[in-house]
Amino acid sequence: MQNTKNIMDYDTVSLDDANSAVVIIDQTKLPAKTEIISLKTAQEIWDAIYLLKVRGAPAIGVAAAYGIYVLAKGIMADDYDSFYAEFKKQKDYLDSSRPTAVNLSWALNRMEQVVLKNANKSVAEIKQLLKEESVEIQEEDIRVCRAIGEYGLTLVKPGDGILTHCNAGKLATSKYGTATAPIYLGQERGYHFRVFADETRPLLQGARLTAFELQSSGVDVTLICDNMSATVMRNNWVDAVFVGCDRVAANGDTANKIGTSVVAAVAKLYHVPLYIAAPTSTIDLNTPTGNEIRIEQRKPEEVTEMWYQERMAPEGVKVFNPAFDVTDHELIAGIVTEYGIARAPYTESLREIFAKKNAAQKK
Ligand code: MRU
Repeated sequence: MQNTKNIMDYDTVSLDDANSAVVIIDQTKLPAKTEIISLKTAQEIWDAIYLLKVRGAPAIGVAAAYGIYVLAKGIMADDYDSFYAEFKKQKDYLDSSRPTAVNLSWALNRMEQVVLKNANKSVAEIKQLLKEESVEIQEEDIRVCRAIGEYGLTLVKPGDGILTHCNAGKLATSKYGTATAPIYLGQERGYHFRVFADETRPLLQGARLTAFELQSSGVDVTLICDNMSATVMRNNWVDAVFVGCDRVAANGDTANKIGTSVVAAVAKLYHVPLYIAAPTSTIDLNTPTGNEIRIEQRKPEEVTEMWYQERMAPEGVKVFNPAFDVTDHELIAGIVTEYGIARAPYTESLREIFAKKNAAQKK
């Protein structure tokens, strides 16, 4: 029987507690095939993150939280010290799967805090608390993306042209996406945005994922190659750029998918504001500037042969394949968080955002 389910009807990540598994859409197969896979072992979870079967900073965080819960559940030790030693080993292993998106270590550290703060409880109780925390991390992700959407929507008007790069959509989160959240909320309210999606070489997250999910949702989306963003901006077709992020440094410098900084420079040239949609879980005040962000380097084959019918570059050619770049804070018009929009100077405004967050959490 033909599968008539829309991609938006599937959870990007979910927990199958009965079978002790993390369930994900294998995003490497999209859009041709919607394949749902279950991850049970540390190796399977690590591989899924490393190979981008689950990707996008918030979704990586949720997958890691469910992943470490599933692994903790399987730890046989009854005494706290042995349990924690094994937990830490598994946590550090998952944390090594990708270096740039801070949500990975953010979620894993949050899970570790549950273990550390409950050392007086039984291992069975700690496992239950870990489950609750992982579910909360996912539910929070949905609330946060919606709030980013509401703030983002104040920056645009009906009929606007919006350009986005990579996939910071539903497939990168639990719902709404970050950069796409204003687009989806606008869609619900009849804003009729015209969206331009960069295809995003070399892994084509824009073509395979963003164009797919927006089109499946009925959004007016036009796919362009990465080298066409200047043309659509010069034509005055773009009123705002919204992109996601993998790590925002304390001064506002932002690591996101490779090519974002090119879009930002072009946007500046054509006076189009570029906004970073940033859950506070992706803002890392411990990293002072973009210079300290570790950028993931990936295999040369992603550039030389992937997606092509045959290899498209000479054998042995040198390849530089960073997965992310850093957009200088000077090129960013605003950082849209779930606690409001930070504006330059970001060193101060991001601290204010965290002060709001801390105050809200104390209530
Ligand atoms: O390598 P990827 O596909 O994980 O890169 C994803 C991005 O760069 C996204 O823009 C970022 O993680 C934000 S997702 C809401």
